[in-house]
Amino acid sequence: MPIPTANPVVDGLGTLLADSYALMAQTHLAHWNVEGPDFFQLHTAFQAQYEELFTAVDEIAERVRALGAYAPGGLATLAAYSEIEELGVESLSAPRFVEHLAGGHELLVRHAASLRDAAEEARDHETQDLVIARIQVHQKTLWMLRSFLRGS
Ligand SMILES: [Fe+2]
Repeated sequence: MPIPTANPVVDGLGTLLADSYALMAQTHLAHWNVEGPDFFQLHTAFQAQYEELFTAVDEIAERVRALGAYAPGGLATLAAYSEIEELGVESLSAPRFVEHLAGGHELLVRHAASLRDAAEEARDHETQDLVIARIQVHQKTLWMLRSFLRGS
């Protein structure tokens, strides 16, 4: 979590930014290193997911700026702000990559739900709208990742 500011909505957006960045990096890693008979479909699906996250982090950072605060950035800074685990550079099964990413999406959604509630509390409905839309995207991705795991 970022160093707390006077505004819990800004703090929550910092966490959402860091979680989204970490998840983007983990999804990119999975896109590169996934192997096996599901390679082509997962390689393609992971690309769509990290591209969506790349667009999202910009939107989240710019919401921080619209609220008058500065957006955290840089790999080391954002890594320190996120609790999403990083995979090593290793051979993993396709389901293991999918499970890992699903765990990251679940953690992000939990944090984002707190931010949604903090934005409601602050009557910052514009941030709340952004966060609700982000949660919807992550819930949809979770449905897809879990559906893949059903057969494995
Ligand atoms: Fe690629």
